[in-house]
Amino acid sequence: MRLSVIGCGYLGAVHAAAMASIGHDVVGIDVDERKIATLSEGKAPFFEPGLQEILTDGIESGRLRFTTDMSEARGAKVHFVGVGTPQQKDSYAADLTYVNAAVDALLPYLTEGDIVAGKSTVPVGTAAELSQRVTATGSTLVWNPEFLREGWAVQDTIDPDRLVVGVPEGESGEAAAAILREVYHPAIAKGTPFLVMDRPTAELVKVAANAFLATKISFINAMAEIAEVAGADVTRLAEAIGHDERIGRQFLKAGIGFGGGCLPKDIRAFSARAEELGRGESVAFLREIDAINLRRRDRAVEIVVEALGGSVFKKNVTVLGAAFKPHSDDIRDSPALDVAVRLHGLGAWVTVTDPAAIENARRVHPQLNYVEDRDEALRGADAVIVVTEWDEYRHNLSAEHAASIVNSRVIIDGRNCLDAKEWRAAGWEYHGMGRP
Ligand code: UDX
Repeated sequence: MRLSVIGCGYLGAVHAAAMASIGHDVVGIDVDERKIATLSEGKAPFFEPGLQEILTDGIESGRLRFTTDMSEARGAKVHFVGVGTPQQKDSYAADLTYVNAAVDALLPYLTEGDIVAGKSTVPVGTAAELSQRVTATGSTLVWNPEFLREGWAVQDTIDPDRLVVGVPEGESGEAAAAILREVYHPAIAKGTPFLVMDRPTAELVKVAANAFLATKISFINAMAEIAEVAGADVTRLAEAIGHDERIGRQFLKAGIGFGGGCLPKDIRAFSARAEELGRGESVAFLREIDAINLRRRDRAVEIVVEALGGSVFKKNVTVLGAAFKPHSDDIRDSPALDVAVRLHGLGAWVTVTDPAAIENARRVHPQLNYVEDRDEALRGADAVIVVTEWDEYRHNLSAEHAASIVNSRVIIDGRNCLDAKEWRAAGWEYHGMGRP
């Protein structure tokens, strides 16, 4: 099927390449000329495992191309809109400028029977507002939220755990659902649930899912705060409660909290929208979720300060990680980088290393010292803090080896990802998050 994908960021670029990889004829469109030039050469503009391969294959097969020219959307049956919805500069609400601009720019090229499928995460009610403009062209607007995780984006797009489509009532909605069923046929044939619902529900599904995930993380981080004063170990607690299938083990890793381009802004936009709808109190707990999350960064910094005898001034602190999570070069709202910047602000000499995110980090925080080689970064450290649980630090860094490079054996495990026993046995003073 001929498809267009408007917006070629983390979401759109992966979606375009993934749709080509399952046999569709796809044009990816973005206003950013540099990004389009990179993608057109078959190069991934950001780090995402597996993306490079499907981009190259798509372009070589002739089924995938990229352009800045919106008129090339003409002739596609489905137009996916996957542009950004960042937090507004002066409020918690989502900024819908890009969504509105993308849909408006697309309107002249829509023809009768086309489907416009919104993928961006938007406040509930957005589809209803956009719908009139789209319907006037004889096209149908549906909402088809995306649940991909960075680092697993290709797999999550080709082989999602569920597909959700919000459609308008009546024949046009039924026809649109049938067309999307065709688009996603390979996944549906493998048994992926395909859930058709109304548009407000589909919009809400996405923010509700992210709110739930954020809540789970902050719940366990709140337990970490209690564990810290009670002399308990939050990692053992998570393991024990996680055996209850109703609770589950996933997303119960306590540490320096969540970041990235989705969870933080999505829970804020959700509470802003709930307030607009007169139901602010229904999700008032999300403010608390946010506050708990941010407190963990404070706590990590505090632990480093305490471990260094009350001050980090003129101390060498090595920060292992900058990305908001492993398998990603994304530093948007990264708790890792935030901790590094705060330590720098307190007068520490901060050296940051990361397998993928140094370039992005340096652009935003040039004041920090970046070293690509992990061992080089560890040299002479008075304290080491792990803030992103890359395998390079979790599994491939031995406590013995690290001990031979640093100045002082002090390790703060901001992600509770190291074997405390191993590090202590090698003579390290080990500090976890919510662990004795
Ligand atoms: C998230 C959702 O998982 C995804 O479904 C949605 O489409 C977009 O938002 P992503 O932002 O890629 O995906 O990251 P995710 O893997 O959810 O992690 C988010 C943050 O939570 C990371 O900073 C991670 O380190 C942190 N986290 C995750 C924890 O601190 N503890 C956990 O147990 C799990």
